[in-house]
Amino acid sequence: MSWIQEAELNPVERLCASILKVGPMPEHVAFIMDGNRRYAQKCRVERQQGHSQGFEKLAETLRWCLNLNIREVTVYAFSIENFKRSKEEVDGLMELARQKFTRLLEEQENLKKHGVCIRVLGNLTLLPVDIQELIAQAVLATQSYNKCFLNVCFAYTSRHEITSAVREMALGVEEGLLKPSDLSESLLSRCLYSSSSPDPDLLIRTSGEVRLSDFLLWQVRS
Ligand code: IPE
Ligand code: IPE
Ligand code: MG
Repeated sequence: MSWIQEAELNPVERLCASILKVGPMPEHVAFIMDGNRRYAQKCRVERQQGHSQGFEKLAETLRWCLNLNIREVTVYAFSIENFKRSKEEVDGLMELARQKFTRLLEEQENLKKHGVCIRVLGNLTLLPVDIQELIAQAVLATQSYNKCFLNVCFAYTSRHEITSAVREMALGVEEGLLKPSDLSESLLSRCLYSSSSPDPDLLIRTSGEVRLSDFLLWQVRS
């Protein structure tokens, strides 16, 4: 399934969209894509099928966001903690990522048409090298588009992101490029993977859970 669906909104979706647009609209929405395995169990399908359908729901969600003129979307697709799941499940999720990033590269015209810039946030060195390469190609191919931004958090945790930012600042001090007094909240924000994005003004977790599960701890206030 395509990342960017061309289909028009149906009449019910159009009605909902026009009602939503009356009020203030968020500029940046973050999603924790959760509940795939529970969904698979409920529908009595294979776990991998649940993950695959989770991606399809993401593509549908992106279509709504494009139609609502939401400029930026950040999705939590795979956490560093998720590597602790069974080898079979992790391999299945990596295969899904391989397929979806390959598909993304095939859809460059569509991304260009909508001006979608793709960023992938996380400790990418933990991923298989071929997936790192696909991600690098997708990010490079879309880096100049600036109508809307899709940030995919993959092999991500907020603790890792903050630790990397602190390390980067410490290196700056060690190399004499920064003074300890230069370190500040705003400098740390600029060292995060999310440095190019405004903080999200809406966070949605599918599945009904209310945990953050180590997602955007710095960026999501209160
Ligand atoms: C989210 O769904 C997808 C990933 C974390 C990769 P889950 O796999 O966590 O499904 P549940 O929450 O156990 O139902
Ligand atoms: C959070 O979901 C990570 C993603 C959705 C990618 P998890 O299902 O892994 O989180 P916990 O273990 O329930 O907190
Ligand atoms: Mg879960």
